[in-house]
Amino acid sequence: DLDSASTEAGATDQIVASGLASVLGVGERTYQEEVFALCGGGRARVRRQHAQGKLTARERLYLLLDRGSFQELDRLVSSRESLHASSSDPLGKHRTPGDGVVSGFGRIHGRPVFVYSQDFTVAGGSLSEANAAKICKVIDKAIEVGAPVVALCDSGGARIQEGVRSLAGYAEVFKRNVLASGYIPQLSLILGPCAGGAVYSPALTDFVLMSRRHARMFVTGPSVTNAALGEQTTDEALGGAAVHCRISGVAHLDADDDIAVIQLARELLSYLPQNARVPAPQVVVTEDPSDREEPVLDRLVPSDAHTPYDMRDVLMRLVDDEEFLEIQTDFAPNMLTAFARLNGRSVALIANQPLCIAGAIDSDAAVKAARFVRFADAFGIPIVTLVDVPGFLPGTQQEHGGIIRHGSKLLYAYTEATVPKLTIILRKAYGGAYCVMASKHLRGDLNATWPCAHIAVMGRAAASQILRRRVASTDALETSGDTEASEESSVSVALQRGYVDAVVRPRLTRRWLIHGLSLLASKETAALREPWPPKKHGNIPL
Ligand code: HXC
Repeated sequence: DLDSASTEAGATDQIVASGLASVLGVGERTYQEEVFALCGGGRARVRRQHAQGKLTARERLYLLLDRGSFQELDRLVSSRESLHASSSDPLGKHRTPGDGVVSGFGRIHGRPVFVYSQDFTVAGGSLSEANAAKICKVIDKAIEVGAPVVALCDSGGARIQEGVRSLAGYAEVFKRNVLASGYIPQLSLILGPCAGGAVYSPALTDFVLMSRRHARMFVTGPSVTNAALGEQTTDEALGGAAVHCRISGVAHLDADDDIAVIQLARELLSYLPQNARVPAPQVVVTEDPSDREEPVLDRLVPSDAHTPYDMRDVLMRLVDDEEFLEIQTDFAPNMLTAFARLNGRSVALIANQPLCIAGAIDSDAAVKAARFVRFADAFGIPIVTLVDVPGFLPGTQQEHGGIIRHGSKLLYAYTEATVPKLTIILRKAYGGAYCVMASKHLRGDLNATWPCAHIAVMGRAAASQILRRRVASTDALETSGDTEASEESSVSVALQRGYVDAVVRPRLTRRWLIHGLSLLASKETAALREPWPPKKHGNIPL
C-alpha cells in the first residue's frame, strides 16, 4: 500500500528506522533511502497519479508479474545530476529516487521476464543518464538470459535538465532495442503520456499496447504543434489509442486502462517463446485432433464470391478452444492477423477479411501482414494463411500512397520466412494477391484449396471487360464462356502443376493443419537459418 508507505524518509521516525535497519542488516541511512525510493515522487504526486485513474510504477509491476516474483535492481540509483542539489539535504531527498524508473526482473506464467516501469511521479518519468543506464542494464541482461523485456511507459521524454546526456541515454536504449530485435520479444505498454524520445523506443519493440484512457504518443505535443503550424489539437486527437490503433498503425493492442492493458500483455506473452532459439510454450491438450471435424465450415463461407462474411467465424472453428488474440484489430481491418494455438502449439494466423473492402489488400494491410510475418518468422512461430482475396485495392490514392512499395513488403516477408507455412485458399485468390498470400511460389510448405475455390488473374467482371475489349476489336470469340473456363481450369492447372498440394474439405481443415504442422515441426531446426545465398542482409523495400 503505497499511500500508507509514502511517509517520506525525512519524516520516518528515527528510532523505528534504526530498529528496522538493524533487523534488515543494513545501515540506517540505507534503510531510509530504501523507504525514500519506494515512495517515488512522494504522496502528493502518487495521489495525483491515482486521481487520474492511473496506477504507480510499482503497482503496475505488481499486477504484471507473478505474485511475489519481482526482484528489483538499482533501487537506490539516483540522478547523476542532482536536480536541486543542496548541502542541507544529506539524504538527497530532492534528488530523484530510482531516477524515474523501477527496473528488475520477475516471472510471467512462471517464465522469466525483464521489466522496467517508468515512474511518472519522479520527474515525470523523464529519461536521464542514470535512468537510461538502468533501462540498458535490464535489456542487456534480458539478451544474455534470453528472456522478454516488458516496458511500462509513462514518461515526459528526455530529461530537460540533463541535455545531451539524456539524448545520449535515449540513443543507448534505442541501440539495445535494435540489437535485441528478433532475438527476445519486446513489449511496450503505454500507460500515460509518452512524448519525444519516449515514443521511439516503443516503436522499435515488437508490440505496442495502449491504454485507451491514458496513453498518448507523439513526437511533438499539441503546444509545439500549435506553435509551429498553428494547428489546434488535443493530446488525445494527436496521439491517443484510437489514433495509433486505427490510423497510424503504431500500436498493436489497446484496452481500457492500466489493469486491462497489463492483462493483455500477459495473454500476449503466453503465445510467444522466450527467445528466437527456443519454441513457444506448448499448452497440453486433451482432445485428439483427428477427432474434431467442423461440419459448420462446409456451409460457413458463401459460394458467391461477392458475398461478405466474417473471417473470424472461420478462424474460431479452426483453432484450439475457439480462442485467438487478434493483433491490430482496427488497423487495416481488411487483413486479419492473430495468434492462436493448434493442438497446443502457437501459430500466427494471417487472413483476408471479406467483411471489409471485400478483403482487398491495400498498403496498410500489406504492411500490417508483412510485419506480422517477420515477427513470426524471427521467433519460429508457424504461419497459417487463409486466403479469400479479390486482389490489390485499385485507385489513385493507393497508387500515390505507394502500394507498389508496400505490397512488395509482403511479398518479401513471405518469401524470406523459413518457418512452416501452411496456406488454404477458401474461396478465391486473384491476381498478385494469389502470389503474395503465401503461395507455393513464395516457399509455401503446404498449400491447399477448399473445393469451390477460384484462382484467376482477376475477377470475372474485370476479366470479361478486358477480354471483351480485345475481342471486340479483333472480332473474335464470345468471351464470357472463355473467362469462366479459364478460372475453373486455373485451380486444376494449379493442382496439376503442384502449385496447390491438395483439395481439402472445409470440415477437415483443422485436422489438415494439425497434421501439416506436426509434419513440419522439425523444419525450424533442420532449415537453414542463414540467408541464402550468403549475404549481409536483404534489402526489404521499406
Ligand atoms: C524533466 C519533466 C519532463 C521532462 C515532465 N517533467 N516532463 N521533467 N524533463 N521532459 C516533470 C514536470 O516538470 C513535473 O514536475 C512532472 O514531470 C509532471 O509533469 P506535468 O507537466 O505536471 O504533467 P502533465 O500535466 O500530466 O503533462 C505531462 C506531459 C508534460 C504532457 C508529459 O509534462 C510535457 O509536455 N512534458 C514535456 C514533453 C517533452 O516535450 N519532452 C521532451 C521531448 S524531447 P513536478 O516537479 O512539477 O512534479 C525528446 C528528445 C529525444 O524526448 C529524441 C530522441 C530521438
